[in-house]
Amino acid sequence: MHSEVRPPPAMETIHTVAWMKQVAAEARREERVLGLVPTMGALHEGHLSLVRAARQQSSPIVVSIFVNPKQFGPTEDFQKYPRTLDADRAVLEKLGVDYVFAPSGEEMYPAGFRTAVVVEGLGERLEGRSRPGHFLGVTTVVLKLLEIVQPRLTFFGRKDAQQVRIIQQMACDLNLDPEIVVRPIVREPDGLALSSRNAYLNPSDRAAATVLYRSLDMARRGIAAGERYATQLLADLRQVVESEPKVALDYAEMVDADTFEPVVNLRKTCYLLVAARVGGTRLIDNALIEPAGESFSVTL
Ligand code: PAJ
Repeated sequence: MHSEVRPPPAMETIHTVAWMKQVAAEARREERVLGLVPTMGALHEGHLSLVRAARQQSSPIVVSIFVNPKQFGPTEDFQKYPRTLDADRAVLEKLGVDYVFAPSGEEMYPAGFRTAVVVEGLGERLEGRSRPGHFLGVTTVVLKLLEIVQPRLTFFGRKDAQQVRIIQQMACDLNLDPEIVVRPIVREPDGLALSSRNAYLNPSDRAAATVLYRSLDMARRGIAAGERYATQLLADLRQVVESEPKVALDYAEMVDADTFEPVVNLRKTCYLLVAARVGGTRLIDNALIEPAGESFSVTL
């Protein structure tokens, strides 16, 4: 008998909440391990590393692409944020993604929308101080996405360390079921963390932008040489950033990984966090510092 070879099912792009809910509910009914990767599109290898991790651990996979207006301040780049849906869909299809959820602004926030999710405390400093209202926009949209898809697993990048911490707190406080998987930072060969906003950098900004990585690497060497005091590590780090005339430091802090409050010296798991403007573009980066025996390991 002639056996039929069926092509793999094509990726489907979903634009409405109602259809996304129906498709996700069907997958749950079949007891499949639904994975969700939330993004704002303009996909790069950082996003794709999350998709690959999702593919290893879950099936079917939903990648959401939504440039969320609520997480941009009035003077920020919502209008010019890169939107490359067709190219994004092409790479996701190659990676074996099952569904792209790409709702419109009106679909996510219809007229009359009034609710906001606030995680108190954690979102007020650092990114929250530089970008008032940003995390409220993030938590509101992430809770909506988690409710619409109700995945078993959801994937986030450590590139946005404070965002991850806030989402974990929201998930804990609101008894959300999805397991939150956190993945490492994907970098360019010269150390620059991949970001959709890197597309804004002209060649000389692009060269200057590596100073964020270089400053964190300087701190890593300081820690390896035995330095434990935040003031010293941050002074050295700032000096590296300030040596680059095109770069204006927004903040550099060493914080407890749990509370995101500043620490005086290294004792438990911390983050070194930096944010800076390069030309007109705001970039962030961080290093994870974890106790390792008598010493500390620093992961950039
Ligand atoms: P976006 O900036 O598109 O990032 C989507 C996911 O990719 C986030 O979890 C982010 O941390 C991760 N990511 C970005 N650059 C990365 C890199 N270089 N290495 C590893 N992971 C990286 O973050 C958002 O969108 C939004 O705030 C969102 C969570 C989608 C809510 O709107």
